[in-house]
Amino acid sequence: MNPSQLISNLNDKLAQTLALVASAQELQALYDAKVAFAGKQGFLSDIMREMGKLPKEDKPGFGKEVNRAKVAFEEAYVAREEELKNAALMDKVKKDAVDVSLPGPAMAAGAKHPIYLVMDEVVGILSRLGYTVRTGPQIEKDWYNFEALNIPPDHPSRDMQDTFYIDDDHVLRTHTSPIQIHTLLTEKPPFRALAPGSVFRKDSDISHSPNFHQIEGLLVDKHVSMADLKGTIAFVLKELFGSAVKVRFRPSFFPFTEPSAEFDCSCPICSAKGCRLCKQTGWIEIGGSGLVNPRVFEAVKIDPKQWQGFAFGFGIERMAMIKYGIDDIRLFAENDLRFLGQFNL
Ligand code: DAH
Repeated sequence: MNPSQLISNLNDKLAQTLALVASAQELQALYDAKVAFAGKQGFLSDIMREMGKLPKEDKPGFGKEVNRAKVAFEEAYVAREEELKNAALMDKVKKDAVDVSLPGPAMAAGAKHPIYLVMDEVVGILSRLGYTVRTGPQIEKDWYNFEALNIPPDHPSRDMQDTFYIDDDHVLRTHTSPIQIHTLLTEKPPFRALAPGSVFRKDSDISHSPNFHQIEGLLVDKHVSMADLKGTIAFVLKELFGSAVKVRFRPSFFPFTEPSAEFDCSCPICSAKGCRLCKQTGWIEIGGSGLVNPRVFEAVKIDPKQWQGFAFGFGIERMAMIKYGIDDIRLFAENDLRFLGQFNL
């Protein structure tokens, strides 16, 4: 072949290849075109072999032509490769694009635990009678949890409350009553104190949980009687369960009150007709109460001749079970959102 024929072949092939490059829709097609034209066994290699056969004086001119074709191909190749890569990227961006006008996934709103709903309600009711909230530690010294409340070591009433001992001198508080002691030691009467909190006992079945909640009330003033106590308790229960409920007091015993009484309310579920919750009696036990035992005042160095008081305490789980008709105390601690979500309507 003479040089001009070779050059015309080269130009034809280059034009074809550039058309292939320009129309390639995928990187693979582009790559195939490169192999065919500029690869080791491609068109340019073949034509270079032909060049070897040309007369010496034609070689440089032809070599230049081959180079020009090579450069033209490279430029077209790189440009198209970039176009295809950009197009692929745009495609991916489009596919993965977020439609900001779509509503997002719904976020579940947090809600108060039913125990805290009832706790807040009781605190709200008693705050209208002038009570304010106090707190105390959950790990108590024996003295606060028992002794200062007139429950000496070996006293049988310690058996009423199965205790978790931390060591010889510390317990997980078994009731909120030790907050009475903290309050009496740090504040000057008269006052009306309210202490909601978590308490612990070795006990577990459908109506007992090893960790439950109580609310403690303590009023200290100059002239305090059982009538004041009854009025307060009746007010709380009627506010909580409706004015139709009846409240009754039964004589009882607590070491830290004298006299002591337990209080019940007529069953708000069956209107005292008798049901499973009130065990067919029409009455539901709510909590304990009484006038502050002078021995408690003595333990905290307050003169019982000058000051009197009443105290009361009850379990919040029990209140919530009555209020919402729940028959298993363990549900409160299970963290099942289907259960917990029912109370914030
Ligand atoms: N602390 C008692 C208990 O957990 C309840 C109680 C009874 C509290 C009488 C009082 C009270 O303040 O006066 O069983």
